[in-house]
Amino acid sequence: MAEYLTTQGYEVFGLVRGQRNPRVRQLRQLLGDVRLIRGDLLDQGSLISAVERVQPDEVYNLAAISYVPMSWAQAELTGEVTGLGVLRVLEAIRVCSGISASRSPGRGQIRFYQASSSEMFGMVRESPQTEQTPFHPRSPYGVAKAYGHFLTQNYRESYGMFAVSGILFNHESPRRGAEFVTRKISLGVAKIKLGYERQLRLGNLSARRDWGFAGDYVCAMALMLGQDEPVDYVIGTGVTHSVEDLLDHAFKVADLDWRDHVVTDAAFIRPAEVDKLCADPSAARDKIGWEPKMTFEELVGMMVEADLELLSSGGDRVADPVGEPGGHPGEHELANRAAQERPVGDPRHRTAADKRRDAGDQERGQQ
Ligand code: GDD
Repeated sequence: MAEYLTTQGYEVFGLVRGQRNPRVRQLRQLLGDVRLIRGDLLDQGSLISAVERVQPDEVYNLAAISYVPMSWAQAELTGEVTGLGVLRVLEAIRVCSGISASRSPGRGQIRFYQASSSEMFGMVRESPQTEQTPFHPRSPYGVAKAYGHFLTQNYRESYGMFAVSGILFNHESPRRGAEFVTRKISLGVAKIKLGYERQLRLGNLSARRDWGFAGDYVCAMALMLGQDEPVDYVIGTGVTHSVEDLLDHAFKVADLDWRDHVVTDAAFIRPAEVDKLCADPSAARDKIGWEPKMTFEELVGMMVEADLELLSSGGDRVADPVGEPGGHPGEHELANRAAQERPVGDPRHRTAADKRRDAGDQERGQQ
């Protein structure tokens, strides 16, 4: 998101939490133009200070505990960060803008985007899911996201704030955390192809998701904040695939058959599953002109090829995409770090740092 906004001419500030946060160094390498400020979704005062200091035109709240299985292990923390964190950001904007029940915002108000999730649909009431489909979340994560969603709507209605939610379906890229199924599979394929491993252990293979390319979805978020009126939209591709379909495509990219390598493991089965998600993104297409560009097959191919390149060029081959029950949290961080330090070749996935490096290379070439 920050990369996209920077290319659009925005001055971007990013909120970082904690002392000696190990991601700061990676972030600086990846996004040298983004200015980092301290703050924490658990700390109201820090958010007020951040808004006061930056005086933003737009605020995108993409922060959350976003790994669904983690939300059962740490349900209260998930509620605090993923749910109440939204309240704290909205309050920071409200207080800094001097908005109250009797005083609505004037011109030049701060616009707010909340990252809502298709996980809120959970046990779906209809398919495909639209902006009108009722929610039935199936995890503490989904419940917390539903709270943030309704609160955003409520601040819009109560205070007249320009506050919108994008109900985003699964969006992936080679930068995806290694604990999520797409990246776990692309890394698994690469490790098997290169002979580092022989097996890939997964959970429910029949779950269906609407998977799209994250690079397409960031444009939708920015578009939503650029409208005259604040409106929530469903953002997805409208096409659903099973984890088995994903395996089929991913292993084929490396000329392998997933049936020879995949083992199902009860440790990766969730206490309550979201069986099938499929977006109806027609409102976004008709009202704000957003459409996804990358197909599922292109996305899977890009991810597998990126991980083959990453591991064959000396990336972290011990990285193990776990972090679920029975796994070893922390190891996936290594894969992420390696992936972030070695962005892939897809032009839509290039970072500002890549572009600067390329420009430098070109200049050196010309001299
Ligand atoms: N992570 C994981 N690991 N998922 C597995 C595995 C496995 O070994 N085996 C099967 N799956 C299934 C899960 O049970 C789920 O049905 C599906 O693969 C997708 O899992 P994830 O990739 O972990 O994503 P998610 O759908 O739970 O949530 C993601 O998308 C949401 C948007 O709908 C996250 O990014 C959320 O933060 C996001 O809101």
